[in-house]
Amino acid sequence: MQIRFADARPTGDFALVLPAAGNLRPGIDGLGAARAGVEAALKRSRFEGEAGSLVEHFLDSDGGRRLLVVGAGADVGEGEAPEKLAGTAVARLLTSGETHAVIDLTGLKLDADAAARVALAAALRSWRYDRYRTRLKDKQKVTLATVTIVGAGAEAQSRYESRYAPLVEGVALTRELVTEPANIIYPESFVERVTESVKGLGLELQVLGRDEMAKLGMGALLGVAQGSVREPQLLVLKWNGGKAGDAPVAFIGKGVTFDTGGISIKPAANMEAMKWDMGGAAAVVGAMKALAGRKAKANVVGICGLVENMPDGNAQRPGDVVTTMSGQTVEVINTDAEGRLVLCDAMTWTQRTIKPRAMIDLATLTGAMVISLGHEYAGLFANDELLASQLIKAAEESGDKLWRQPLGEAYDRLIDSPIADMKNVGPREGGSITAAQFLKRYVEDDTPWAHLDIAGMAWSDKAKSTYDKGATGFGVRLLDQYIADNFEA
Ligand code: BES
Ligand code: MN
Ligand code: ZN
Repeated sequence: MQIRFADARPTGDFALVLPAAGNLRPGIDGLGAARAGVEAALKRSRFEGEAGSLVEHFLDSDGGRRLLVVGAGADVGEGEAPEKLAGTAVARLLTSGETHAVIDLTGLKLDADAAARVALAAALRSWRYDRYRTRLKDKQKVTLATVTIVGAGAEAQSRYESRYAPLVEGVALTRELVTEPANIIYPESFVERVTESVKGLGLELQVLGRDEMAKLGMGALLGVAQGSVREPQLLVLKWNGGKAGDAPVAFIGKGVTFDTGGISIKPAANMEAMKWDMGGAAAVVGAMKALAGRKAKANVVGICGLVENMPDGNAQRPGDVVTTMSGQTVEVINTDAEGRLVLCDAMTWTQRTIKPRAMIDLATLTGAMVISLGHEYAGLFANDELLASQLIKAAEESGDKLWRQPLGEAYDRLIDSPIADMKNVGPREGGSITAAQFLKRYVEDDTPWAHLDIAGMAWSDKAKSTYDKGATGFGVRLLDQYIADNFEA
């Protein structure tokens, strides 16, 4: 979908979207002869202007033009309100038959960022993936092709184009990878799809295959991969937009392209959801695409540990002991706790090769995280107070919310093994925390490190303002915001 900006409403055919923000309703006030009819329609619909509420009306006086009055709460500039406004309108119009929507912000006094985020949300909410639907009825097909934002101002337009349009591209890549099934996206095809998608943006790519990882001693990552016919990959994307010589920030993603559980096989019910067990890796590549797309003034490296976790005659067994790249050994009690086995080797490689100033991993790591935080927040674990507070701030600003979780010695004791340096699972209780403690054992030299358990966030069964049900793109906005706040300000 195309986003345009204009100072005044265009001529011709379009659906008109007018916000109502408490008493501030300039669009409705300016309706002239049509106003009384619209006011009556609002009244009959018991419209109170809550954010996300909507009344649809057709203007006789204007050739039957479709009008959407969208509630924006008491303050349309506040928090999520600008995004809810656009998301609500676009969701309604996407397959409505309308091809052009005009969102008129004239007189709302939105600041440039809030107005730019109206455009951002419109673009994000329009994303769909219909590649495999070959029998869609015309009525089910997307018709909306253009959204024009009127009255946002030049600053909002330039903020959208320089900052948010690239972000939309990044989020779209993440959602596409998460949505694709595991027969299409597996480690090698993930690398190919990403390579194609980021072409020309100036990212430097590096790919390690099985043999190279074996030489480096990545026994934990390779142990997960050994039950699959798919070759594992370590994908590295470098963006050098900062000062030469400045140590980069590293984003590390869990990229399990399908998680059957391995020999500790998962129950059949809902196993198809494990196609999105690469949501962390997808968020990392989406963020890298966004940063490169907007030429972020920072040095950032994205690392994806890509494997498929399958049970076959060569699969690793419960009880196997593997040696990680760090030299530490792991007793694999449960082959379904594979994400940490992938991440630990990716973390060691990152620290020894990239020497990052900070490293942030994203992973759909534990079902326990979904039990504790549901689908509202991702869990944040960190060994560094500054990094934790920077991430919490970026979370609040971006809407990709985080809630801090504990780490501690007593939890760490729970993964001691009688035969190796550690085991890959603790008891059922505190399962997200022991998973984080496992990762913490791979942090070297007190590198500032944060682990984001996004198990509840990569996929949504419900539509929200900026996404339909399905892949959310969680993490891309967060990482982009973190870089903007801390390295470019
Ligand atoms: N990918 C799963 C975690 C997951 C589960 C994400 C449900 C999203 C929804 C992970 O690899 C896993 O299987 N974790 C196990 C760990 C357990 C064996 C200690 C889990 O959470 O059950
Ligand atoms: Mn698993
Ligand atoms: Zn997994």
